[in-house]
This record gives sequence, structure tokens and C-alpha cells, in this order.
Amino acid sequence: MSRGFHAAFGRAPDAVASAPGRVNLLGEHTDYNDGFVLPIALPQQTTVSIGLAAGRDFTLRSEGFAKPLSFRRDRLPDEPFGRYVYGCIAEVGIVGFDVPPLDIHVGSDLPMGVGLSSSAALEIATLRAVRALLKLPLDDVAIAKLAQRAEIDYAGVRCGIMDQMASSLADTERALFLDARTLATRLWSLPDGAAVLVLDSGVPRSLVTSGFNQRRGECEEACRLLGVTSLRDVRRVDQLESLPDPWQRRARHVVTENARVLRAVGGSDAETLGELMNASHASLRDDYEVSIPELDRLVSLLQEHPAVFGAKLTGAGFGGACVAVCAADRIADVAAEVLGDYRRLGGRGRLLAPPVLPT
Ligand code: GLA
Repeated sequence: MSRGFHAAFGRAPDAVASAPGRVNLLGEHTDYNDGFVLPIALPQQTTVSIGLAAGRDFTLRSEGFAKPLSFRRDRLPDEPFGRYVYGCIAEVGIVGFDVPPLDIHVGSDLPMGVGLSSSAALEIATLRAVRALLKLPLDDVAIAKLAQRAEIDYAGVRCGIMDQMASSLADTERALFLDARTLATRLWSLPDGAAVLVLDSGVPRSLVTSGFNQRRGECEEACRLLGVTSLRDVRRVDQLESLPDPWQRRARHVVTENARVLRAVGGSDAETLGELMNASHASLRDDYEVSIPELDRLVSLLQEHPAVFGAKLTGAGFGGACVAVCAADRIADVAAEVLGDYRRLGGRGRLLAPPVLPT
């Protein structure tokens, strides 16, 4: 991918780094409630190549944009894409390391805007490249925290830390069980014979920033009404009975979703994991209200397939992708049959992961 830098700037980069996208198996909208999540890294990655620039401008070029984007350290770029990179550079400055003007090239085979954390992959790859160039004493957890701050402060999404921790620490073989309060992690193997399939509903995510921030606000209000600092501290749904609607349903999703993650990592076979994912989708649809009809349709088709253990929307919701755990030796059939049925019902889905199916 450093070829892209060479073509854009006519020289070799001084540092190159990559970071993966993620798909979340269980634990949706729990991270900003200090709860538990279970993402796994995807094979698709974003690569950031950087070189020291001659002048005072940062110049950002990407395969996805014809025109270069220029910015300076004291002026936030207008384009959302540039804000992620700018935010990372600004956050590194806030913790005491000045980043000199850079030429930056971004290449990626990770689909954007479908809920697979392309923004976190961009942030983590940027921070890794800057860390390598300046030999910064920042570990992978510190990088994830800076990336989260960049997204909150400069892109305006009050996200939790799951995506950045997953992009910084997860691998593609095992899922990353993360406690979002302590940031303790443990790698968790999928049940034997099970594989992860990710399909796009074909519906772009809309309202994701406003809807996401609204949900986060509702959780904070539920905490205030309950007199707790975070919904992580509520273990039983009967503790929520005093809450009015919609706060009771929002909180019920978080409490039951945390329990589902703990149950899954406590030792579950593929059938149990599948049931937990199905229950997660129902809760995201009915209690948290972040699904849309097309995602519900695609998830139902997956759930009805005999080789699928379970399926749910993945990420923030409001459109984008869904994830299924299915029999590893049937993954190509599941993808073809479910996408065919979805098309017959008027949908325009596509395969996102694995990027290449076994033949
Ligand atoms: C987005 C956010 C994450 C998390 C998920 C929902 O991806 O960036 O922090 O809250 O939504 O689980």
C-alpha cells in the first residue's frame, strides 16, 4: 500500500502502519455503559503511510478521494474523513508529543459506513504510523484511548471504546472479550466448527450520529433516575421497574446484553452462542430501537437458515451490516442462499466478510 504514497507524493514514506476493521458478535451499546463486548477483527484493513512534509501543511490523500485535503494543526478540516486524522494528531499533541507536518496517504479494503469500524481502523492506523515515525512510548491501549478521544472530540460521535480497542488489540482468529470499565481483555475462541459471516443490508446507515448520541443520553438519564453511576452496576431487570418508558427498555437492553456476553464467554457451544445472538437482535430491535426493517429481514433470513446458529445486527445499527455465526463448512451456501432470498424480497445485500469465500 505504500505504493499509493509513492504515486501521490513521488517518494517513499517514512512510516507505514495498518489496522483492521471489526465485527461485534455480542455486546451492542454496552461499551459506553461500562459493560462487556465481544468483537473480532476482520481481515480487511486500512493502511496509513506518512512522510515528513517540507512546509507547514498536512496533506492527506486517499484512494477514495480525487482531491488532496490540506490542513494545519490549528484548523479543523471540514471533511469528516479529515477530522479523524486531524483528531489523532491533535490528541497526540495533547498528551505532549508534537506531530510535525506530514504527507499522509490512506488506502483501505475495508468497506466504509456499514458498521465495521472503518473510522476506528483509520484512527488506529494513523496513530500506529505516527508512533512508529516518532518512536512514541504509547502502548496499544493508550493508542485506543487516544483514538476514542479523537472520534468524540473531532468527529462528534460520543462512542464507547469497543471499536478502537478491537482495531488496536483484536485478532482475526479469536474474539476479544473486553470489559469496557477496566479495559481488561481476554481472547476468546469461537466454538468448534463455527465461522463468522458478515452481510451488508445495502441500506446506508442514517441518523447514526444523532441516534447514537440520543441513545447514550437516554442511558445517562436512566442512570440518573436509578441513582447509579453506570448501567453496568445494575445486574437484575427487576431493579428497573421504577423507570418510565423508554428509559426502562433502553436500560433493559443494556442489562440483558451484558448478561448475554458473560454467558457466551462463560463457555458456550455454537447453539447457545447463536441463541444469545438472536436474543441480542430482538433486544436491539424492540428495546433499544436501533434496527430498521431491512436489517430485521436479513437477520430473519439468516436465523431461518438451517446452517446458521444465530444472527444479529452489528455495530451501532440504523442500517449497515449484520453478523451471523454459522457452520464453517456451509458458509458459502449460507451467503449465496440468504443473499438470493433477500434479493427476491427486494433487498440489495452483499457479502462483507470473509472477503473470499471457500469454493
Ligand atoms: C459504535 C460505537 C461503539 C459501540 C457500538 C454499538 O460502533 O463506536 O462504541 O457503542 O456502536 O455497540
